Amino acid sequence: MKTGPKSSSGNYYFGIFLIQSFAAFLLFSFYRNNYTISRAPTWPNVTNSPAYSESESNLVVLLWTWPFGFQFSLNECPKPYDTHRCLLTADRGFYNIANAVVFHHRDVCGSKNTLPQIPRPEGQYWLWFNLESPSHSPNLNFFDKLINLTMSYRADSDIFTPYGWLEQNEATDNFTIPQKSHLAAWLVSNWNPRSRRVQFYETLKNYIPIHVYGQFHLPLGRMDTISVVSKYKFYFAFEKSIHTDYITEKLWKNALMSGSVPVVLGPPRENYERFLPSDAFIHVDDFPSAKELATYLLELDKNDQKYQEYFQWRSKLKPVTSLGWIANYCQACVELHKAPAFRTISNLGKWFT
Ligand SMILES: *[C@@H]1O[C@H](CO)[C@@H](O)[C@H](O)[C@H]1NC(C)=O
Ligand SMILES: *[C@@H]1O[C@H](CO)[C@@H](O)[C@H](O)[C@H]1NC(C)=O
Ligand SMILES: *[C@@H]1O[C@H](CO)[C@@H](O)[C@H](O)[C@H]1NC(C)=O
Repeated sequence: MKTGPKSSSGNYYFGIFLIQSFAAFLLFSFYRNNYTISRAPTWPNVTNSPAYSESESNLVVLLWTWPFGFQFSLNECPKPYDTHRCLLTADRGFYNIANAVVFHHRDVCGSKNTLPQIPRPEGQYWLWFNLESPSHSPNLNFFDKLINLTMSYRADSDIFTPYGWLEQNEATDNFTIPQKSHLAAWLVSNWNPRSRRVQFYETLKNYIPIHVYGQFHLPLGRMDTISVVSKYKFYFAFEKSIHTDYITEKLWKNALMSGSVPVVLGPPRENYERFLPSDAFIHVDDFPSAKELATYLLELDKNDQKYQEYFQWRSKLKPVTSLGWIANYCQACVELHKAPAFRTISNLGKWFT
């Protein structure tokens, strides 16, 4: 009979055991990864898939990961993206027949090994998808000479997926300014004392009252944002980091959908004016200092007519916010139908700054 290890060498054996377990785990992960790619795809029940048609030309679009792990139905594309046929799937069994694979940056930037490790089928597009700013998008170089198309909030992406935009107003959608009971609000979840926006706020609050909502501040439920913010005359749409076209739901949803006048801190005014009329917002850079901005806001507070001028553009236009993840992937489907036969991007980091 074999005797067990002596207690003095117990740690040694336990160490070996750990190493072996880890090696077995690595091997298992490796095979499992290849297995998921090489096995035959499981066709979804197409009767349940309005986006898929047996008679028309379909593109198979594979979501390499669910964005941030968040899952949703891929069966139906919202208007206006319901015009083209695609089979959207998150099943990696489709890899070998997919016309395009979408890589959501934040899910794969941790390691290059999370990208497909087997050859790319002829003619398959690799689509890079990212709605985060360059400050929060590490390892862009992983994608050099790999991807064919970009999809992001940058207007010069191959597929432009902004956080919001303006549409023509129907004559019947008359806008009325919501009842106002407070002056200025700011909703902030990521409090970084060194960021420009927190430093700006620290000065500004000396001159005007500001209600701050979010973590460590006044509570505000996600569903209540619009109803609460609409009671404020001004909303501080201060971006977390400053980059070309990086204009987020802070402007489109929190301020504009609420019917509050946005005071923006982000890229320069000219950049905002590519997407919005110049009289739809107040830019912090319009003033030499926070004190002068405060003086101006207090002036508008006392002058209804001047305040209302910030809403004149709404007689012709209305803000719309992105319909979320599914709309982004459906838009990719539409645009892939007209993508160039060949495209490649050699240096993503040089562009995405
Ligand atoms: C596919 O979906 C339809 C409609 O829901 C259902 O009647 C049918 O049984 C499903 N077929 C399979 C093979 O699951
Ligand atoms: C909106 O305004 C137009 C023009 O002033 C008017 O004809 C129309 O009846 C209004 N619609 C509503 C729903 O109030
Ligand atoms: C996509 O880019 C890769 C890498 O540059 C290239 O090999 C491939 O031919 C491109 N495919 C298409 C469809 O443009």
